[in-house]
Amino acid sequence: MPIVAPSLLSANFLNLEAECRMLNKSEADWYHLDVMDGRFVPNISFGPMLVAFFRKATSKTCDVHLMIEEPERYAEMFHQAGADILTVHVEACRHLHRNIQQIKNLGMKAGVAVNPHTPLSAIQEILNEIDLVCLMGVNPGFGGQQFIPHTLHKIRQLRQMVAERMLNVLIEVDGGVTLENAAEIVSAGADVLVAGNTVFRSPDPIKTISALKSVCLNV
Ligand code: DX5
Ligand code: ZN
Repeated sequence: MPIVAPSLLSANFLNLEAECRMLNKSEADWYHLDVMDGRFVPNISFGPMLVAFFRKATSKTCDVHLMIEEPERYAEMFHQAGADILTVHVEACRHLHRNIQQIKNLGMKAGVAVNPHTPLSAIQEILNEIDLVCLMGVNPGFGGQQFIPHTLHKIRQLRQMVAERMLNVLIEVDGGVTLENAAEIVSAGADVLVAGNTVFRSPDPIKTISALKSVCLNV
């Protein structure tokens, strides 16, 4: 079964308490929290203050996706805020290895996110140091975009790289995941499905989360 990580970016921010209650009683495994700085991506979302509120609202894993420049300046703050997993973009890090060490030394799990245009060779030398690779299915910055089909090829390629090296790295797919394409994404090799619009714009989010959870059974 895939790990299901709803992205709170698509939640109703006027009613976050109810959204958290819904997620807590659902089969969702993680909270996926999208942090955007208006520089690395053309949008601004939220920062450590809101992550700390989500931390208080749930005992589920807080999976924090940093779409920001110079993430090393903020790793400590997100640790204080309660992040369990901290993911940085390979395209935003000049010293990725140092950034990963910093995140691990702070006691968090470390993830690296990869944009659609970035080849997997960009992370091959760091693969044995990290806990998760976040493969972007869209260009980061906004929820509700269409999945880029070429991502499926990257998922298969990464699954093979991980298997060849006998590593324990989770493959997360983020952006454009729907009930229609989830089975294909999981059978290509994804361990974690992030879903924003698919969950929060659905008439019955709890049911939608269950459907994502049971997706592999239907492959
Ligand atoms: C994209 C974010 C995603 C996004 C997912 O920049 O990293 O987590 O909110 O949203 P959907 O599932 O709606 O594409
Ligand atoms: Zn994300």
